[in-house]
Amino acid sequence: MTHFAYRAGVLHAEDIPVPEIAGTVGTPFYCYSTAALERQFRAFAEAMPKGALIAYAVKANGNLAVIRTLARLGAGADVVSIGELKRALAAGIPASKIVFSGVGKTRPEMAYALDAGLHQFNVEGEGELEALNEVALSKNAVAPVALRVNPDVDAKTHAKISTGKAENKFGIPWTKARAVYARAKSMPGIKIVGVDVHIGSQVTDLEPFRAAFVRVGELVRLLRADGHNIRRIDLGGGLGVPYRDGEILPPPKDYGAMAHQAVGDLDVELIAEPGRFMTASAGILVTQVLYVKESESKRFAVLDAGMNDLIRPALYEAWHDIVTVQEPGPGAARFAYDVVGPVCESTDMFARDRELPKLAPGDLVAILTVGAYGAVLASSYNARPLAPEILVKGGDFAVVRPRPTIEAMMAEERTPAWLKT
Ligand code: LLP
Repeated sequence: MTHFAYRAGVLHAEDIPVPEIAGTVGTPFYCYSTAALERQFRAFAEAMPKGALIAYAVKANGNLAVIRTLARLGAGADVVSIGELKRALAAGIPASKIVFSGVGKTRPEMAYALDAGLHQFNVEGEGELEALNEVALSKNAVAPVALRVNPDVDAKTHAKISTGKAENKFGIPWTKARAVYARAKSMPGIKIVGVDVHIGSQVTDLEPFRAAFVRVGELVRLLRADGHNIRRIDLGGGLGVPYRDGEILPPPKDYGAMAHQAVGDLDVELIAEPGRFMTASAGILVTQVLYVKESESKRFAVLDAGMNDLIRPALYEAWHDIVTVQEPGPGAARFAYDVVGPVCESTDMFARDRELPKLAPGDLVAILTVGAYGAVLASSYNARPLAPEILVKGGDFAVVRPRPTIEAMMAEERTPAWLKT
């Protein structure tokens, strides 16, 4: 069941006709559905073994209203910067449910997180471990730590979003893990609480997860035999979502059952860090056709959204379904379009040779499944204002981040003295 569906021939976001929002805020805009966020969170949370901490990976969509919606359902957070940490706290997620991941935490970030009293630091290397130990000691504090180990499994996803192979920059090499745990144990500012793993994103097959979790389980047994008190396993994120109509992916209940099977006998607290699964299908990007251009061999639909608004197709050759906001009539003819944006780059393309109903200037179209890694990856390239974000709940909608004016964007910059005269 989708919360973006045609009713009486018009695409709705829950109970709101999409053109009504477009009429209020203009295009392009991101539109999120509360019901879809809630459905995704509940599906995941109910699938995980009881007591698991669902630490939403804020990087997927950091809008405060989105985080708040998930926080109200009981979500924790996985953050990778002080900015995300402050957002999670501001959105009402208690520090005791926040884990701090990332390969390049700075000392000021560590200090802030220690003061806040975070649940766990996921540490990715020895240098970082030493730094965290020093920062903790300088505060007479002890940092709760899980070491992120690199299980050297192939997540079989896009190379640019794969993280669990030995050649990736992430995690502590498998073969060094026990030695690094031994070092960590000798550091008075560090308290070992668990093991962390994350193999990649948009993982569409459960087997790589299973392989990684089983390896982590074996490591936990070894570490316990070495005398470490391993009480938690952080499974990372990565569960994929369907991007194409009709695509079937492993459901969260299979993921949860597999996790239970792989590590359920270890009597550990489980943490999961889903990002994409929570928000991807809960967001669409609504944009208007500016022009339809025909060259000798191609038909182009030029939209008012560009790669600065949604970079996934340009960056990862990612597929996003595109639909017209007016429902095409039954048996309506379809034409192949290259769907492009206004940005001055040939990579500013959302889809190549995409079969769509006949498009005309002024038509609204929606690019689907963009609630994760959409708005957060946007830029103002070509001096284009960031697209606003709208959150719908039933028959209500709210602008949860307005479109900045060009003047406000320029006002953030300063003129040096020597250019003033
Ligand atoms: N935990 C860690 C340590 C991560 O690095 C990530 C994602 C997650 C959790 C959440 O993974 P998810 O459940 O969302 O797959 N920009 C790319 C995705 C990059 C993901 C990076 N790490 C995209 O648009 O596909």
